[in-house]
Amino acid sequence: MRKDHSLYKTPVIPDGHPYEDIFSFQPELQKLVAFSTAMKLPRHRWFYYKPGFAPDIVEMILKKYSKYEGETFLDPFSGVGTAPMVASKMGFSRSTGLDISPLGITIGSSKVLKLDKQDVLKSLDKLKISPYRKKIEQYYLNKAYKKEIVRKLLSLRDSISSVEGTSETKQFLNLCLLSIADKFADVKKDGGFLRYFEREKPENILDYYRKLVLDFTEDFTKLTFESAPEFILADARKIPFDDESIDTVITSPPYLNRYDYTRIYALELAMLGISDEEVRSIRKKTLKSHIEAKHKTCPDFSSKIFDAIESDLPQRELSNPKIPEMVIGYFHDMAWNLKEVARVLRPNGFAAYVVGNCRFSGIHVEVDAILGQIAESYGLTVETILIAKTRGSSAQQVRKYGDLPLRESIVILRKN
Ligand SMILES: C[S@@+](CC[C@H](N)C(=O)[O-])C[C@H]1O[C@@H](n2cnc3c(N)ncnc32)[C@H](O)[C@@H]1O
Repeated sequence: MRKDHSLYKTPVIPDGHPYEDIFSFQPELQKLVAFSTAMKLPRHRWFYYKPGFAPDIVEMILKKYSKYEGETFLDPFSGVGTAPMVASKMGFSRSTGLDISPLGITIGSSKVLKLDKQDVLKSLDKLKISPYRKKIEQYYLNKAYKKEIVRKLLSLRDSISSVEGTSETKQFLNLCLLSIADKFADVKKDGGFLRYFEREKPENILDYYRKLVLDFTEDFTKLTFESAPEFILADARKIPFDDESIDTVITSPPYLNRYDYTRIYALELAMLGISDEEVRSIRKKTLKSHIEAKHKTCPDFSSKIFDAIESDLPQRELSNPKIPEMVIGYFHDMAWNLKEVARVLRPNGFAAYVVGNCRFSGIHVEVDAILGQIAESYGLTVETILIAKTRGSSAQQVRKYGDLPLRESIVILRKN
Protein backbone atom coordinates (compact mmCIF):
# COMPACT_ATOMS: atom_id res chain seq x y z
CA MET A 1 0.00 0.00 0.00
CA ARG A 2 1.28 3.51 -0.71
CA LYS A 3 2.22 4.86 2.70
CA ASP A 4 1.17 8.40 1.94
CA HIS A 5 -2.41 8.39 0.78
CA SER A 6 -2.20 12.09 -0.08
CA LEU A 7 -0.25 10.92 -3.16
CA TYR A 8 -3.64 10.10 -4.61
CA LYS A 9 -5.80 13.06 -5.57
CA THR A 10 -8.85 11.01 -4.65
CA PRO A 11 -8.93 9.54 -1.14
CA VAL A 12 -8.86 5.75 -0.69
CA ILE A 13 -12.20 6.05 1.13
CA PRO A 14 -14.28 8.85 -0.40
CA ASP A 15 -15.89 11.29 2.12
CA GLY A 16 -19.41 10.33 3.08
CA HIS A 17 -18.90 6.73 1.93
CA PRO A 18 -21.67 4.47 3.32
CA TYR A 19 -18.98 2.28 4.97
CA GLU A 20 -16.71 5.18 6.04
CA ASP A 21 -16.70 4.07 9.69
CA ILE A 22 -16.01 0.38 9.19
CA PHE A 23 -13.09 0.47 6.75
CA SER A 24 -9.82 -0.41 8.45
CA PHE A 25 -6.33 -0.07 6.91
CA GLN A 26 -4.25 -3.25 7.39
CA PRO A 27 -1.07 -2.77 5.31
CA GLU A 28 0.52 -5.79 7.01
CA LEU A 29 -1.87 -7.93 4.95
CA GLN A 30 -0.50 -6.63 1.64
CA LYS A 31 1.68 -9.68 0.88
CA LEU A 32 -1.00 -12.12 2.02
CA VAL A 33 -3.56 -11.34 -0.65
CA ALA A 34 -1.12 -12.95 -3.12
CA PHE A 35 -0.17 -16.63 -3.44
CA SER A 36 3.63 -16.26 -3.48
CA THR A 37 4.33 -17.02 0.21
CA ALA A 38 2.44 -20.32 -0.22
CA MET A 39 5.34 -21.50 -2.42
CA LYS A 40 7.52 -21.82 0.70
CA LEU A 41 5.04 -24.02 2.57
CA PRO A 42 4.75 -27.81 2.53
CA ARG A 43 2.08 -29.19 0.18
CA HIS A 44 0.78 -25.67 -0.63
CA ARG A 45 3.88 -25.27 -2.84
CA TRP A 46 3.01 -28.25 -5.05
CA PHE A 47 1.23 -26.10 -7.61
CA TYR A 48 1.73 -22.38 -8.27
CA TYR A 49 -1.67 -20.73 -8.61
CA LYS A 50 -1.32 -17.02 -9.24
CA PRO A 51 -4.94 -16.12 -8.42
CA GLY A 52 -4.63 -17.81 -5.01
CA PHE A 53 -4.09 -16.15 -1.64
CA ALA A 54 -1.58 -16.99 1.11
CA PRO A 55 -2.39 -19.58 3.79
CA ASP A 56 -1.42 -16.97 6.42
CA ILE A 57 -4.33 -14.72 5.53
CA VAL A 58 -6.76 -17.55 6.18
CA GLU A 59 -5.10 -18.25 9.52
CA MET A 60 -5.20 -14.57 10.49
CA ILE A 61 -8.91 -14.25 9.62
CA LEU A 62 -9.80 -17.46 11.46
CA LYS A 63 -7.92 -16.44 14.60
CA LYS A 64 -9.56 -13.04 14.66
CA TYR A 65 -13.14 -13.78 13.68
CA SER A 66 -13.92 -17.43 14.35
CA LYS A 67 -14.03 -19.82 17.27
CA TYR A 68 -12.78 -22.44 14.77
CA GLU A 69 -12.96 -25.60 16.82
CA GLY A 70 -15.10 -28.51 15.73
CA GLU A 71 -16.96 -26.40 13.21
CA THR A 72 -17.79 -26.56 9.53
CA PHE A 73 -15.84 -24.52 7.01
CA LEU A 74 -16.56 -23.71 3.35
CA ASP A 75 -14.69 -21.95 0.55
CA PRO A 76 -17.09 -21.77 -2.42
CA PHE A 77 -14.33 -20.57 -4.84
CA SER A 78 -11.56 -22.74 -3.47
CA GLY A 79 -9.05 -22.72 -6.37
CA VAL A 80 -6.21 -25.04 -5.39
CA GLY A 81 -7.59 -25.54 -1.89
CA THR A 82 -5.60 -23.08 0.23
CA ALA A 83 -8.39 -22.07 2.63
CA PRO A 84 -9.88 -25.55 3.30
CA MET A 85 -6.35 -26.88 3.95
CA VAL A 86 -5.67 -24.20 6.57
CA ALA A 87 -9.13 -24.59 8.13
CA SER A 88 -8.66 -28.37 8.46
CA LYS A 89 -5.27 -27.89 10.03
CA MET A 90 -6.74 -25.42 12.51
CA GLY A 91 -9.27 -27.92 13.78
CA PHE A 92 -12.44 -27.61 11.71
CA SER A 93 -14.09 -31.00 11.69
CA ARG A 94 -15.50 -30.58 8.20
CA SER A 95 -13.79 -28.36 5.70
CA THR A 96 -14.95 -28.17 2.07
CA GLY A 97 -13.84 -26.42 -1.08
CA LEU A 98 -15.96 -25.94 -4.19
CA ASP A 99 -14.68 -24.94 -7.59
CA ILE A 100 -16.21 -24.96 -11.06
CA SER A 101 -12.93 -26.10 -12.61
CA PRO A 102 -11.73 -29.71 -12.45
CA LEU A 103 -8.18 -28.35 -12.31
CA GLY A 104 -8.62 -26.75 -8.88
CA ILE A 105 -10.51 -29.76 -7.58
CA THR A 106 -7.84 -32.20 -8.82
CA ILE A 107 -5.03 -30.16 -7.31
CA GLY A 108 -6.80 -29.49 -4.01
CA SER A 109 -7.68 -33.18 -3.54
CA SER A 110 -4.13 -34.27 -4.43
CA LYS A 111 -2.50 -31.88 -1.98
CA VAL A 112 -4.33 -33.36 1.02
CA LEU A 113 -3.76 -37.06 0.31
CA LYS A 114 -2.33 -39.44 2.85
CA LEU A 115 0.77 -40.59 0.98
CA ASP A 116 3.27 -43.37 1.49
CA LYS A 117 6.78 -42.34 0.47
CA GLN A 118 7.97 -45.90 -0.19
CA ASP A 119 5.04 -46.59 -2.52
CA VAL A 120 5.68 -43.33 -4.38
CA LEU A 121 9.38 -44.11 -4.77
CA LYS A 122 8.67 -47.61 -6.06
CA SER A 123 6.28 -46.28 -8.69
CA LEU A 124 8.58 -43.40 -9.58
CA ASP A 125 11.35 -45.85 -10.30
CA LYS A 126 9.18 -47.67 -12.84
CA LEU A 127 8.02 -44.63 -14.80
CA LYS A 128 9.27 -44.37 -18.35
CA ILE A 129 8.85 -42.33 -21.47
CA SER A 130 8.20 -44.39 -24.59
CA PRO A 131 7.25 -43.40 -28.13
CA TYR A 132 3.77 -41.84 -28.08
CA ARG A 133 1.74 -42.47 -31.22
CA LYS A 134 -1.81 -41.45 -30.31
CA LYS A 135 -3.41 -38.49 -32.04
CA ILE A 136 -3.22 -35.32 -29.97
CA GLU A 137 -6.61 -33.64 -30.09
CA GLN A 138 -6.44 -30.61 -27.85
CA TYR A 139 -5.68 -27.28 -29.48
CA TYR A 140 -3.36 -25.97 -26.78
CA LEU A 141 -1.28 -29.14 -26.59
CA ASN A 142 -0.67 -28.90 -30.34
CA LYS A 143 -0.01 -25.15 -30.31
CA ALA A 144 1.98 -24.56 -27.17
CA TYR A 145 4.57 -27.33 -27.30
CA LYS A 146 7.18 -28.64 -29.68
CA LYS A 147 5.85 -31.95 -31.02
CA GLU A 148 8.55 -34.15 -29.53
CA ILE A 149 8.13 -32.54 -26.10
CA VAL A 150 4.36 -32.87 -25.82
CA ARG A 151 4.63 -36.51 -26.92
CA LYS A 152 7.07 -37.20 -24.08
CA LEU A 153 4.82 -35.47 -21.53
CA LEU A 154 1.80 -37.47 -22.67
CA SER A 155 3.77 -40.67 -22.61
CA LEU A 156 4.76 -39.90 -19.02
CA ARG A 157 1.10 -39.27 -18.24
CA ASP A 158 0.19 -42.71 -19.65
CA SER A 159 3.03 -44.31 -17.74
CA ILE A 160 1.70 -42.78 -14.48
CA SER A 161 -1.79 -44.11 -15.12
CA SER A 162 -0.57 -47.67 -15.79
CA VAL A 163 2.26 -47.91 -13.23
CA GLU A 164 1.89 -50.19 -10.22
CA GLY A 165 1.01 -48.27 -7.07
CA THR A 166 -1.90 -47.07 -4.97
CA SER A 167 -4.45 -44.68 -6.42
CA GLU A 168 -3.14 -41.99 -4.01
CA THR A 169 0.36 -42.44 -5.38
CA LYS A 170 -0.88 -42.09 -8.95
CA GLN A 171 -2.93 -39.02 -8.06
CA PHE A 172 0.12 -37.43 -6.48
CA LEU A 173 2.36 -38.32 -9.45
CA ASN A 174 -0.20 -36.80 -11.76
CA LEU A 175 -0.24 -33.57 -9.74
CA CYS A 176 3.56 -33.41 -10.08
CA LEU A 177 3.16 -33.65 -13.85
CA LEU A 178 0.58 -30.84 -13.86
CA SER A 179 2.92 -28.78 -11.76
CA ILE A 180 5.63 -28.83 -14.46
CA ALA A 181 3.40 -28.80 -17.56
CA ASP A 182 4.14 -25.19 -18.43
CA LYS A 183 7.92 -25.40 -17.85
CA PHE A 184 8.22 -27.27 -21.16
CA ALA A 185 5.88 -25.10 -23.23
CA ASP A 186 6.66 -22.25 -25.59
CA VAL A 187 4.09 -20.05 -23.92
CA LYS A 188 3.97 -18.26 -20.61
CA LYS A 189 1.18 -17.00 -18.41
CA ASP A 190 1.19 -13.26 -18.83
CA GLY A 191 -1.58 -11.39 -17.03
CA GLY A 192 -4.79 -12.76 -18.46
CA PHE A 193 -3.20 -14.54 -21.44
CA LEU A 194 -0.89 -17.27 -22.59
CA ARG A 195 1.76 -15.59 -24.75
CA TYR A 196 4.26 -17.20 -27.09
CA PHE A 197 7.61 -17.33 -25.38
CA GLU A 198 10.62 -19.39 -26.47
CA ARG A 199 11.95 -20.47 -23.13
CA GLU A 200 14.98 -22.47 -22.16
CA LYS A 201 13.68 -25.82 -21.06
CA PRO A 202 15.16 -28.40 -18.72
CA GLU A 203 17.09 -30.94 -20.82
CA ASN A 204 15.60 -34.19 -19.68
CA ILE A 205 11.91 -34.36 -18.82
CA LEU A 206 12.07 -37.55 -16.78
CA ASP A 207 15.10 -36.39 -14.73
CA TYR A 208 13.51 -33.04 -14.04
CA TYR A 209 10.25 -34.70 -13.07
CA ARG A 210 11.95 -37.23 -10.78
CA LYS A 211 13.83 -34.49 -8.91
CA LEU A 212 10.60 -32.60 -8.35
CA VAL A 213 8.76 -35.68 -7.09
CA LEU A 214 11.61 -36.49 -4.69
CA ASP A 215 11.59 -32.94 -3.37
CA PHE A 216 7.81 -32.98 -2.83
CA THR A 217 7.94 -36.29 -0.95
CA GLU A 218 9.76 -34.37 1.83
CA ASP A 219 6.44 -32.65 2.58
CA PHE A 220 4.41 -35.82 3.25
CA THR A 221 5.09 -35.75 7.00
CA LYS A 222 5.57 -32.00 7.37
CA LEU A 223 1.89 -31.29 6.84
CA THR A 224 -0.70 -33.95 7.62
CA PHE A 225 -4.44 -33.77 8.19
CA GLU A 226 -6.43 -35.47 10.92
CA SER A 227 -9.57 -34.87 8.97
CA ALA A 228 -8.67 -33.97 5.40
CA PRO A 229 -10.71 -31.34 3.55
CA GLU A 230 -12.94 -32.47 0.71
CA PHE A 231 -13.16 -30.82 -2.67
CA ILE A 232 -16.32 -30.84 -4.77
CA LEU A 233 -16.76 -29.81 -8.38
CA ALA A 234 -19.67 -27.41 -7.95
CA ASP A 235 -20.97 -23.96 -8.74
CA ALA A 236 -20.63 -21.33 -6.01
CA ARG A 237 -23.99 -19.95 -7.13
CA LYS A 238 -25.70 -23.19 -6.07
CA ILE A 239 -24.05 -24.51 -2.92
CA PRO A 240 -24.71 -28.22 -2.28
CA PHE A 241 -25.32 -27.84 1.48
CA ASP A 242 -28.32 -27.59 3.78
CA ASP A 243 -29.58 -24.33 5.26
CA GLU A 244 -27.62 -23.15 8.30
CA SER A 245 -25.09 -25.99 8.09
CA ILE A 246 -21.86 -23.94 7.79
CA ASP A 247 -20.10 -21.92 10.51
CA THR A 248 -17.40 -20.14 8.55
CA VAL A 249 -16.74 -19.10 4.96
CA ILE A 250 -13.47 -17.67 3.71
CA THR A 251 -13.15 -17.16 0.00
CA SER A 252 -11.81 -15.13 -2.88
CA PRO A 253 -14.03 -15.06 -5.95
CA PRO A 254 -12.49 -14.29 -9.34
CA TYR A 255 -11.66 -10.56 -9.50
CA LEU A 256 -13.55 -8.44 -12.02
CA ASN A 257 -10.47 -8.12 -14.23
CA ARG A 258 -11.48 -10.00 -17.41
CA TYR A 259 -9.12 -12.92 -16.62
CA ASP A 260 -10.45 -16.20 -17.91
CA TYR A 261 -8.82 -19.00 -15.90
CA THR A 262 -9.82 -21.61 -18.47
CA ARG A 263 -7.52 -19.86 -20.95
CA ILE A 264 -4.70 -19.09 -18.52
CA TYR A 265 -4.71 -22.73 -17.33
CA ALA A 266 -5.54 -24.21 -20.74
CA LEU A 267 -2.38 -26.34 -20.82
CA GLU A 268 -3.01 -27.90 -17.43
CA LEU A 269 -6.68 -28.57 -18.29
CA ALA A 270 -5.58 -30.27 -21.51
CA MET A 271 -2.96 -32.29 -19.60
CA LEU A 272 -5.77 -33.47 -17.34
CA GLY A 273 -7.32 -34.97 -20.47
CA ILE A 274 -10.16 -32.46 -20.75
CA SER A 275 -11.35 -31.91 -24.31
CA ASP A 276 -11.52 -28.47 -25.98
CA GLU A 277 -15.29 -28.73 -26.04
CA GLU A 278 -15.48 -29.42 -22.30
CA VAL A 279 -13.15 -26.50 -21.60
CA ARG A 280 -15.45 -24.20 -23.61
CA SER A 281 -18.39 -25.44 -21.60
CA ILE A 282 -16.56 -24.82 -18.28
CA ARG A 283 -15.63 -21.33 -19.55
CA LYS A 284 -19.28 -20.43 -19.98
CA LYS A 285 -20.13 -21.71 -16.50
CA THR A 286 -17.46 -19.67 -14.71
CA LEU A 287 -18.40 -16.51 -12.85
CA LYS A 288 -18.95 -13.50 -15.13
CA SER A 289 -15.54 -11.99 -14.37
CA HIS A 290 -14.69 -12.13 -18.07
CA ILE A 291 -16.56 -11.53 -21.27
CA GLU A 292 -17.19 -15.11 -22.41
CA ALA A 293 -18.91 -16.37 -19.27
CA LYS A 294 -22.71 -16.56 -19.22
CA HIS A 295 -24.50 -15.11 -16.21
CA LYS A 296 -27.99 -15.45 -14.84
CA THR A 297 -29.93 -12.43 -13.64
CA CYS A 298 -30.53 -12.46 -9.89
CA PRO A 299 -33.84 -10.73 -9.33
CA ASP A 300 -33.84 -9.49 -5.77
CA PHE A 301 -30.67 -7.81 -4.54
CA SER A 302 -30.06 -4.16 -3.86
CA SER A 303 -27.02 -1.88 -3.85
CA LYS A 304 -27.13 1.88 -4.38
CA ILE A 305 -23.51 1.98 -5.58
CA PHE A 306 -24.20 -0.79 -8.09
CA ASP A 307 -27.35 1.01 -9.37
CA ALA A 308 -25.23 4.08 -10.15
CA ILE A 309 -22.70 2.01 -12.12
CA GLU A 310 -25.41 0.12 -13.97
CA SER A 311 -26.87 3.36 -15.29
CA ASP A 312 -23.55 5.19 -15.91
CA LEU A 313 -21.26 2.59 -17.47
CA PRO A 314 -23.17 1.86 -20.70
CA GLN A 315 -23.03 5.62 -21.52
CA ARG A 316 -19.21 5.63 -21.57
CA GLU A 317 -16.83 5.08 -24.46
CA LEU A 318 -15.44 1.60 -23.76
CA SER A 319 -12.54 -0.51 -25.04
CA ASN A 320 -14.97 -3.41 -25.51
CA PRO A 321 -18.74 -3.00 -25.91
CA LYS A 322 -19.35 -6.10 -23.78
CA ILE A 323 -17.82 -4.56 -20.63
CA PRO A 324 -21.12 -3.22 -19.16
CA GLU A 325 -22.74 -6.64 -19.57
CA MET A 326 -19.72 -8.24 -17.85
CA VAL A 327 -19.72 -5.80 -14.91
CA ILE A 328 -23.48 -6.10 -14.41
CA GLY A 329 -23.36 -9.89 -14.85
CA TYR A 330 -20.53 -10.14 -12.30
CA PHE A 331 -22.67 -8.61 -9.57
CA HIS A 332 -25.69 -10.72 -10.48
CA ASP A 333 -23.50 -13.84 -10.25
CA MET A 334 -22.03 -12.67 -6.96
CA ALA A 335 -25.55 -11.95 -5.70
CA TRP A 336 -26.47 -15.62 -6.32
CA ASN A 337 -23.39 -16.64 -4.39
CA LEU A 338 -23.99 -14.26 -1.47
CA LYS A 339 -27.61 -15.35 -1.28
CA GLU A 340 -26.45 -18.97 -1.07
CA VAL A 341 -23.80 -18.18 1.53
CA ALA A 342 -26.42 -16.33 3.61
CA ARG A 343 -28.63 -19.43 3.35
CA VAL A 344 -26.01 -22.01 4.39
CA LEU A 345 -24.41 -19.94 7.19
CA ARG A 346 -25.51 -20.61 10.75
CA PRO A 347 -26.80 -17.60 12.74
CA ASN A 348 -23.77 -15.66 14.01
CA GLY A 349 -21.50 -17.46 11.49
CA PHE A 350 -19.21 -15.25 9.44
CA ALA A 351 -17.94 -15.00 5.88
CA ALA A 352 -14.78 -13.26 4.62
CA TYR A 353 -14.45 -12.22 0.95
CA VAL A 354 -11.05 -11.23 -0.44
CA VAL A 355 -11.80 -8.95 -3.41
CA GLY A 356 -10.27 -6.26 -5.60
CA ASN A 357 -11.83 -3.04 -6.88
CA CYS A 358 -11.43 -1.98 -10.48
CA ARG A 359 -12.09 0.83 -12.92
CA PHE A 360 -13.60 0.89 -16.41
CA SER A 361 -13.56 4.08 -18.54
CA GLY A 362 -13.04 6.22 -15.45
CA ILE A 363 -15.85 4.61 -13.49
CA HIS A 364 -14.76 3.26 -10.12
CA VAL A 365 -16.27 -0.16 -9.47
CA GLU A 366 -16.12 -0.54 -5.68
CA VAL A 367 -16.44 -4.32 -5.60
CA ASP A 368 -15.90 -4.50 -1.80
CA ALA A 369 -18.65 -2.00 -0.95
CA ILE A 370 -21.09 -3.26 -3.59
CA LEU A 371 -20.73 -6.85 -2.38
CA GLY A 372 -21.27 -5.55 1.16
CA GLN A 373 -24.53 -3.86 0.18
CA ILE A 374 -25.73 -6.92 -1.74
CA ALA A 375 -24.87 -9.14 1.26
CA GLU A 376 -26.89 -6.84 3.51
CA SER A 377 -29.91 -7.28 1.30
CA TYR A 378 -29.69 -11.03 2.12
CA GLY A 379 -29.54 -10.65 5.89
CA LEU A 380 -25.77 -10.44 6.43
CA THR A 381 -24.13 -7.51 8.23
CA VAL A 382 -20.92 -5.89 7.05
CA GLU A 383 -18.81 -6.02 10.20
CA THR A 384 -15.67 -4.48 8.77
CA ILE A 385 -13.79 -4.01 5.49
CA LEU A 386 -10.05 -4.55 5.91
CA ILE A 387 -8.02 -2.69 3.28
CA ALA A 388 -4.98 -4.86 2.57
CA LYS A 389 -3.55 -2.87 -0.30
CA THR A 390 -4.20 -0.19 -2.91
CA ARG A 391 -3.21 -0.10 -6.57
CA GLY A 392 -3.17 2.88 -8.90
CA SER A 393 -5.24 2.77 -12.11
CA SER A 394 -3.68 1.84 -15.47
CA ALA A 395 -1.53 4.52 -17.15
CA GLN A 396 -4.17 4.92 -19.83
CA GLN A 397 -6.95 5.57 -17.29
CA VAL A 398 -4.74 8.00 -15.34
CA ARG A 399 -4.05 10.04 -18.49
CA LYS A 400 -7.70 10.25 -19.39
CA TYR A 401 -9.46 10.35 -16.03
CA GLY A 402 -6.80 11.03 -13.36
CA ASP A 403 -5.38 8.70 -10.71
CA LEU A 404 -7.59 6.71 -8.35
CA PRO A 405 -6.59 4.29 -5.59
CA LEU A 406 -8.15 0.88 -6.11
CA ARG A 407 -8.60 -1.07 -2.89
CA GLU A 408 -7.90 -4.77 -2.43
CA SER A 409 -9.92 -5.66 0.64
CA ILE A 410 -11.36 -8.34 2.87
CA VAL A 411 -15.06 -7.89 3.49
CA ILE A 412 -16.13 -9.47 6.79
CA LEU A 413 -19.81 -10.40 6.88
CA ARG A 414 -21.79 -11.77 9.81
CA LYS A 415 -25.09 -13.63 9.64
CA ASN A 416 -27.67 -11.85 11.81
C1 LIG B 1 -9.35 -16.22 -7.02
S1 LIG B 1 -9.50 -17.93 -7.38
C2 LIG B 1 -9.50 -18.66 -5.80
C3 LIG B 1 -8.13 -19.03 -5.34
C4 LIG B 1 -8.06 -19.68 -3.96
N1 LIG B 1 -8.32 -18.73 -2.90
C5 LIG B 1 -6.70 -20.34 -3.76
O1 LIG B 1 -5.91 -19.87 -2.90
O2 LIG B 1 -6.38 -21.27 -4.50
C6 LIG B 1 -11.16 -18.05 -7.88
C7 LIG B 1 -11.61 -19.45 -8.25
O3 LIG B 1 -13.01 -19.41 -8.56
C8 LIG B 1 -13.26 -20.45 -9.50
N2 LIG B 1 -14.61 -20.21 -10.08
C9 LIG B 1 -14.97 -19.42 -11.12
N3 LIG B 1 -16.30 -19.47 -11.31
C10 LIG B 1 -16.80 -20.29 -10.35
C11 LIG B 1 -18.11 -20.72 -10.01
N4 LIG B 1 -19.19 -20.33 -10.69
N5 LIG B 1 -18.26 -21.58 -8.96
C12 LIG B 1 -17.17 -22.02 -8.25
N6 LIG B 1 -15.90 -21.64 -8.55
C13 LIG B 1 -15.72 -20.78 -9.57
C14 LIG B 1 -12.10 -20.40 -10.44
O4 LIG B 1 -11.94 -21.62 -11.13
C15 LIG B 1 -10.94 -20.06 -9.48
O5 LIG B 1 -10.24 -21.22 -9.11
